[in-house]
Amino acid sequence: MRYGHFDDVEREYVITRPDTPLPWINYLGSEEYFGIISNTAGGYSFYRDARLRRLTRYRYNNAPLDLGGRYLYLRDDASGDYWSPSWQPTQRELEDYSCRHGLGYTIISSRYQGIRAETLYFVPGGENLEVWRVRVTNDRPGPARLSLFSSIEFCLWDAQDDATNFQRNYSVGEVEVEAGVIYHKTEYRERRNHFAYFACSEPVVGFDTQRDAFLGPYRSWDRPIAVERGSASNSIAHGWQPSGSHHVRLELDPGETKEVIFLLGYAENPRDAKFDPPASQTIDKRLLRPTITRYLQPATVAAAFEQLRARWMDLLGISQAHTGNEHVDRMVNTWNPYQCMVTFNMSRSASLFESGIGRGMGFRDSTQDLLGFVHLVPSRARERLLDVASTQLPTGGAYHQYQPLTKRGNNDIGSGFNDDPLWLVLAVAAYLKETGDASILEEALPYDNEAGTERPLYEHLQRSVAYTLERLGPHSLPLIGRADWNDCLNLNCFSETPGESFQTTENRSGGVAESVFIAGLFVLAADELAAIAAIRGDAQAVARCRTGAAAMREAVARHGWDGAWFRRAYDFHGRPVGSAENDEGQIFIEPQGMCVLAGLGLDDGRARLALDSVRDRLATRNGIVVLQPAFTRYHLNLGEISTYPAGYKENGAVFCHTNPWVMIAETRTGDGDTALDYYLRINPSAREDRSEIHRGEPYVYAQMIAGDDAATPGEAKNTWLTGTAAWNLVAISQWILGIRPEYAGLRIDPCVPAAWGDFSVTRRFRGATYRVTVRKQPGASGRVTRLRVDGQALEGSLAPLPASPGAEIELEAFVEAAP
Ligand code: BGC
Ligand code: NOJ
Repeated sequence: MRYGHFDDVEREYVITRPDTPLPWINYLGSEEYFGIISNTAGGYSFYRDARLRRLTRYRYNNAPLDLGGRYLYLRDDASGDYWSPSWQPTQRELEDYSCRHGLGYTIISSRYQGIRAETLYFVPGGENLEVWRVRVTNDRPGPARLSLFSSIEFCLWDAQDDATNFQRNYSVGEVEVEAGVIYHKTEYRERRNHFAYFACSEPVVGFDTQRDAFLGPYRSWDRPIAVERGSASNSIAHGWQPSGSHHVRLELDPGETKEVIFLLGYAENPRDAKFDPPASQTIDKRLLRPTITRYLQPATVAAAFEQLRARWMDLLGISQAHTGNEHVDRMVNTWNPYQCMVTFNMSRSASLFESGIGRGMGFRDSTQDLLGFVHLVPSRARERLLDVASTQLPTGGAYHQYQPLTKRGNNDIGSGFNDDPLWLVLAVAAYLKETGDASILEEALPYDNEAGTERPLYEHLQRSVAYTLERLGPHSLPLIGRADWNDCLNLNCFSETPGESFQTTENRSGGVAESVFIAGLFVLAADELAAIAAIRGDAQAVARCRTGAAAMREAVARHGWDGAWFRRAYDFHGRPVGSAENDEGQIFIEPQGMCVLAGLGLDDGRARLALDSVRDRLATRNGIVVLQPAFTRYHLNLGEISTYPAGYKENGAVFCHTNPWVMIAETRTGDGDTALDYYLRINPSAREDRSEIHRGEPYVYAQMIAGDDAATPGEAKNTWLTGTAAWNLVAISQWILGIRPEYAGLRIDPCVPAAWGDFSVTRRFRGATYRVTVRKQPGASGRVTRLRVDGQALEGSLAPLPASPGAEIELEAFVEAAP
């Protein structure tokens, strides 16, 4: 069952009924000002940091789940009847409803008793504000006298404090209202030099800034007293809950449309010029006023919206595929890169599953997000790499997370996840291959943001690799530390205290638990660093990496193989994890994907065996589950992984992030049919017609889909902010379709289903546009061995770098018949 459809031309998902199984959201903003918006206009906004600079309040885990947001109310002043044009919160039955989630904007349209309303929400490029452009049309035979009310609830900036510190917060809220603009200025009197504003293009007949004056005591958002009454009370908040509402009257002739613009924004003043007059406590608005004036003009808004659309068309134009498979094309050309932009911006901070309070920017998360983002805006990827590397610890280790506002490592979330530093190497390698910009390696960056410790990024990478080599266990495999990619495989933790965090609690001392997954990841990273070092002519580093990688391959071969698959780890006591010896958790997906991806087992048949085991034991209709058999009880020596009920999260769900590793591994053994089959099992568009089971948005990947051991198999959770986005884009575009940036050119190495015929991809790379046509007879399942580049025949599958910037390169790649 579906709740809408894809509009592939407009690149929108069109939701056609408001009561989706879960709120289906979108993101506004892609630079500094951000918002989350649901299909019923729920959500919140923030400036840069969802925790420390939250503009509007949002209560997570509410009933209904999504309540509070950018709500409008329309009131028929003749009858007193009122409704929400976004359905929530009044839930009046609408004659017509649609929500178009587009790239950086959302349009919610509806009709109620002959009054049409269409609201466009978006953040103009380069601005710290969001626009709500409302168009109200009278489809009735006679004139309509209407009231339009806006509403938001301000957050007192620090979302954590806002949700807990009521003894203070009920007394500190302050606002100003001037010329119909509502200013939220809590704490501006003291240490803050920022404030929020909420403006309206029409003359207002009234306003409210005190939430309870607007709603009325004992009322909620579904029946605000001001709306019911048809008049605001011009309340000024002193403490309690500062909010914002404008009241506008609209008189519409039959067929007439009126446009009203609301602006919600964030502004800063210089610290020494906060007040006007200087001796007063009144916000100095002189810097801000021109922005408000400009964006209250319909022409400015229309132009900014066009710019946003054009910007996305340009970004997406970097890579476009035409394969004839709608699920592939739709995700590769639009939604997957879009999700990659969002994960790059948000890391794991703000979604409907991430409260914006708990987790900032993950070290591992951000570096992996970059793999799917780097081709979109390489300059921002560069900046991110420098930020992340500057939080690296002098040991080469990492804080697990850092705060976007301060860019400092956040110790509350812990460190000692021993895989973390290696992802930095992969991310830098991806950046170098995409851009060829070797200057990044010379950037002098501190360790742990300590001034005076600056060393070139190249050295940070060396330390990442050394970090693993300096921490090997009894089987010469990497020590796992607190955990590896699987945050919940806590082998040194032994937690018996309820509520204790597996992420930060003191580990048992002397832990020698080892990770086969990190071993595979290490080989991949060491090979990447060796290639970088080779280009620099650093023979010593090449040798170090090669020797380290060879030793690691050897250790995996001796101690990492279980007979039919790669083991997962060794626990604190040196006993295997992910082995046929275990009663539960015999086989894990991560080492199968990562080891084969890194090339282990390709020469001795083990890769194929491991992947066959994945197919036989882990692959389900809904994707490949993370392990089998799922843990049915708590295993003290394994940690959080066994706290989840079977089939959920790390305990046997389809943890979608890992599936693309197996897809890539399948391409490495040459099985394009299986690779694409796995791809389509978790591709959200391919699951759209089962939305009542999947429940999450059909246009973005979910972190996890409940496994067959769960009570609700096929149910997706944690949509949007997941490494799944980047890895799937890498798997499908670079390994299945096979268009892969390399140092010396663009590799054309597809591994697609045998039945496929020709397909084409346009890829901008190193300043040129490559128009690639893959020539393939249906039935052929070999690899590309020759190219024709601008008419010239070339052996192999590597298209050379462009001779000149701006070049348009016609490229044909010929797939061999089955070997
Ligand atoms: C989640 C991880 C998270 C960890 C710690 C796990 O359940 O899957 O994403 O990092 O908990 O919060
Ligand atoms: C989600 C986290 O964000 C990611 O870093 C981790 O690898 C997976 N969960 C698996 O635990």
